[in-house]
Amino acid sequence: MRIIEAGYKKVYVGDAEEIARAVADIYAAILKAKPNAVLGFATGSTPLPLYAELVRRVAAGEMSFADVTTFNLDEYVGLEPTHDQSYRYFMDTNLFNHIDVDPARVHVPSGISVDVETLAAYDTAIVAAGGIDMQLLGIGCNGHIGFNEPGTPLDSLTHVVELTQNTREVNARFFASLDEVPTHAATMGIKTVMNARQLVLIATGASKADALYATVKGPVTPEVPASALQIHPCAFIFADEAAAAKL
Ligand code: PGA
Repeated sequence: MRIIEAGYKKVYVGDAEEIARAVADIYAAILKAKPNAVLGFATGSTPLPLYAELVRRVAAGEMSFADVTTFNLDEYVGLEPTHDQSYRYFMDTNLFNHIDVDPARVHVPSGISVDVETLAAYDTAIVAAGGIDMQLLGIGCNGHIGFNEPGTPLDSLTHVVELTQNTREVNARFFASLDEVPTHAATMGIKTVMNARQLVLIATGASKADALYATVKGPVTPEVPASALQIHPCAFIFADEAAAAKL
């Protein structure tokens, strides 16, 4: 992989498979040092090659998630965990059902119970578990992380957001129509994400090029939630050539 020096951060550039292997190596190092690590996972198309690599390594006996605790970033409001577009279902079918994680230690925000107590309890559970050792992130075309859309305060904890029209249109590809895309989501806040001891953001595809540029070369601003990574002490950014094209 080649390295682009971009402001305070390095961006590791390679193809999606190289990124998957490199990030899987990060998981392997974390789990070797701390088998009961607390891992923050993400949904979306971006992490799919990584999840396939993690599944392969677990099947090959190279890695074990038996003692980890997991927290996912976000969930659509209104979708039951069994709904085939819920993020809980996505995680079960793309990762959790195929690795040796203990389902009792898997956490995904509820899309059904979204009262303030339940939302606050998500942050409390993260703290009670010892804090997140490594949080995986994708990035939206508008610079969102989790479902923290532009304008979300940098000190936000887990909360409900109204999804932007852009985000709903981008995600409509997974639904029968735009009307079926939920209008709201429960998401870890930017502060929840920033509290993780290590962050790994992956950006792939030309549609992420502007957002990645703003993330690493623009100001740290709530208008580009991912720009907060600039001030995280241990944030790693991986991109393919298309996403890195403007750096
Ligand atoms: P994607 O979504 O991986 O499907 O591009 C990333 C995101 O919106 O955070």
